Amino acid sequence: MDVKKVLLGVTGGIAAYKSAEICRALQKKGIDVRVIMTENATRFISPLTFVALSGHDVHSDLFEDPKEPILHIDLARDSDLFLIAPCTANMLAKIANGIADDLMSSTALAMASPVIVAPAMNVHMYENAATQHNLCVCRQRGIHIVEPAQGRLACGDEGRGKLADVDDIVSYASSVLFSIDDASDETCKEEDDHDLCGMKILITAGPTVEPIDAVRSITNRSSGKMGYAIADCAKRRGADVVLVSGPVSIDAPAGVDLIKVETAEEMLSSCEDPFTQSDIAVFCAAVADLRPLKSFDRKLKKGIDDEALSTIDLVPNPDIIATLAAKKRDDQVVVGFAAETDDVIENAKQKLNAKHADMIVANKVGGGLAFGCDDDEVSFVTEDDVLSLPLMDKAQIADRLLDQVLKC
Ligand code: PMT
Repeated sequence: MDVKKVLLGVTGGIAAYKSAEICRALQKKGIDVRVIMTENATRFISPLTFVALSGHDVHSDLFEDPKEPILHIDLARDSDLFLIAPCTANMLAKIANGIADDLMSSTALAMASPVIVAPAMNVHMYENAATQHNLCVCRQRGIHIVEPAQGRLACGDEGRGKLADVDDIVSYASSVLFSIDDASDETCKEEDDHDLCGMKILITAGPTVEPIDAVRSITNRSSGKMGYAIADCAKRRGADVVLVSGPVSIDAPAGVDLIKVETAEEMLSSCEDPFTQSDIAVFCAAVADLRPLKSFDRKLKKGIDDEALSTIDLVPNPDIIATLAAKKRDDQVVVGFAAETDDVIENAKQKLNAKHADMIVANKVGGGLAFGCDDDEVSFVTEDDVLSLPLMDKAQIADRLLDQVLKC
C-alpha cells in the first residue's frame, strides 16, 4: 500500500501546541505528514517545531517562494487528506464561504481529497449562530467535522469549544483516510449525505443499574451496541447527538455529547433538557422497571443481614419514554424499542400507544439476538405499518432506523 499523505493545517489558537501531538500520532500510523500554518498560528508555536517533527518544509505564505507560484494547488494535489486542527472560527468561516485569501484557505478550496476540520474556540464563539451556520454549511458540503469537546477553556469560560481529544482526531482522520480505499464499506450512509444536518437527536443506550447494596445491583445484559450504533450513524449523518448511557464497556462515538448515568431516575433527569431541545428521540436503553425500595451503602452480610438479602422490596421506576413523550411537540419524532421473547409485534403495538411513541423497534430476545450481539433482526412498528428487516448488523439497522424516522 502507498504511504498516505496528510496535510496538517495549524491555525492561530491556544490549542496549536496540540498539533505537534497530532503530527506525531499520525506519523506513528505510518502516515507522511506535511504542515502548513496561518501567520497567526506561528505566534503560538514555531514552524521550526513542525519542520523538526515532519522532516518537511513548513509553509505559511501563499507567495513565499517565487519559484512555486501555485503552492496551494501543489499541496492539495499531493495530499490524500487535509486535516485542519485546531481550526479557528475565522478559518471555518472562510472555508464555509469559499474565501481563499491565504495559503490555508486557498489550499482548502483546492482540495479534491477529503477535508477534516477540528474546531477550537471560545464557547460563545462556538455557539454563535454564525459559527453554527458555518459548521452546517461545511457538513452539507462533505467537509468532516470533529466536534470540539466540553470543559474549562483557556479563557476561563466553561463549555464546548476545546479542541477534541488528540486520539479522537487521529482515529477519525485515519478512518477517513483508510476508508477512501474501502468504497465497499456501506455500514452507514456516505458522510456527504448529511441529511440530519441541523437536527438534534437524543438517544438512550445501555442498561440501568439499580443498587441493592455496595456490591449488588439489579441490571440487565444490554451492551449499549445498538444505541451507540444509532448515535454513531446520526452523528455521521450530521446530527447533533446527545447520548445518555448506562454503564457499558464500549467507547462513545467521536463528537457525541455523552452523559453517563447509572439508575433509571438519573437517566430520566439527564434526558429531560435534551428531550425538550430534540427533534428526534430514540429510547434504546434497557431500563430496569423496578428498583429496590431501600439500597444500602455497605455490603449486606450473609448470616447478619439475611432478612434484608432474602426479601428485597421493589418499587416501580419512572417510565422514561412514557413520561417524556407524553409532552412531546407535534414536530418531534419519538422512537422506542421493545425486546420481547413472545408475541413480539403484538407487544410492540401495545407499547406504541402506552409509550406515546411514533415508532417502536421490536426485537426478539433469544437465539443469540438482541442483547449483546452484533447482528439483530428487527421490525419497525408504526400505527399503520410493520416493516420487518432481515438479519443485519446494528450499524445497518441504525441507518435504516434513521431513514424510517425521516419518513415519519
Ligand atoms: O444494548 P444492546 O446489547 O445492543 O441491546 C440492544 C437492546 C436489546 C437493549 C435494544 O435493542 C432494546 O430492545 N432496548 C429496549 C429493551 C427493553 O427491554 O425495552 P422494554 O420493553 O423494557 O421497554 C420499552 C421501551 O420503553 C424502551 O424504549 C425502553 O427504553 C423504554 N423504557 C422502559 C422502561 C422504563 N422504565 N423507561 C423506559 O424509557
